[in-house]
Amino acid sequence: MIVANDLTELIGHSPVLKIKTVRPDWDLYLKLESFNPSGSFKDRTAWGLISAAEERGALKPGTTIVESSSGNTAKALAMMAAARGYRFIAVVDKHAPADKLNAIRVYGGELHFCVDEDDPDGGHLVDVRRETAKRLAREIPGAVNLDQYDNPDNPRGYYRLLGPELLGQISRIDVFVGTIGTGSSLSGTSRYLKEHGTTLVIALEPKGSAHFSPRGHGYFISGPGYPPGAKLPKNIDHSVIDRHDVVSDAQAFNTMRFFAAKKGLLMGDSGGMVAYYAMKHIRGIAPGPDRKTMVLLVGDGGESYLSHAFNETWMIENELLDPSVEKELAAFYG
Ligand SMILES: Cc1ncc(COP(=O)(O)O)c(C=O)c1O
Repeated sequence: MIVANDLTELIGHSPVLKIKTVRPDWDLYLKLESFNPSGSFKDRTAWGLISAAEERGALKPGTTIVESSSGNTAKALAMMAAARGYRFIAVVDKHAPADKLNAIRVYGGELHFCVDEDDPDGGHLVDVRRETAKRLAREIPGAVNLDQYDNPDNPRGYYRLLGPELLGQISRIDVFVGTIGTGSSLSGTSRYLKEHGTTLVIALEPKGSAHFSPRGHGYFISGPGYPPGAKLPKNIDHSVIDRHDVVSDAQAFNTMRFFAAKKGLLMGDSGGMVAYYAMKHIRGIAPGPDRKTMVLLVGDGGESYLSHAFNETWMIENELLDPSVEKELAAFYG
């Protein structure tokens, strides 16, 4: 058990849960990043970006940090800013779930909204957010934009923290599955794992996201993904990704609901994506004599999704409730 002198020492050290499936030839593990202080693996991003900026002397007590985020990075930066005495402004849009935005406010973060007036939902405006964060950082004296999308300190934090932590928990990892937004968590972790024997890295994005298919469309998943037309982040390292695939909103959200109601595990959207995909991947491979180990990176917990994926009325209104997903999952996970 860790006894920390500083809240940020509690970042990382997240537990791993081995889950049962109908396939005894696979050992399947969930890395549960909801156990980080602000509730997601983006605490590792905040730690990577802020500690590197502190070492460079770019942050002094009271410095304003401005960052564009889909929610979890801003929540993590707001937490660290509160703990370290910085001012924090999150540049967000209406694509972020209300629960994540409320948490940023609770940590003392300020919200700067970007809105597309022509879009009834307000828009998914990554490029506008990024430009706005840069502009605010220029306009506010001494302010800093840490740029989670292109700043190599973001994936470096995962290479230094998450990769070694995983191999300390599970000595052999054959297949690693994660999701991509900025691409930093998957790229940094996978680079370390590949240097230590992992043979297959699979990157997932929401159906409609434009990382691997430029002709995307709208989607509700809020953590992973990149909207069509947006400038892609530099932090995604294609050299460590062996395969990519998509998971739909309905598949991810109904998987989150299945794990909460049938397994007692409250996971966020990336958890729903990786757990659905693991079933699909393993079912597609004939049972064999060799045992294989697969690790799924679950970015956050389900508390931030109570007003949409876990809200039955919202699911019905958006035609996302799909009992066939639960049937498939029950046949695989039991
Ligand atoms: C829950 C969750 N999963 C996955 C991602 C994607 O992570 P990355 O930006 O490191 O690619 C995010 C990004 O915000 C997230 O919040």
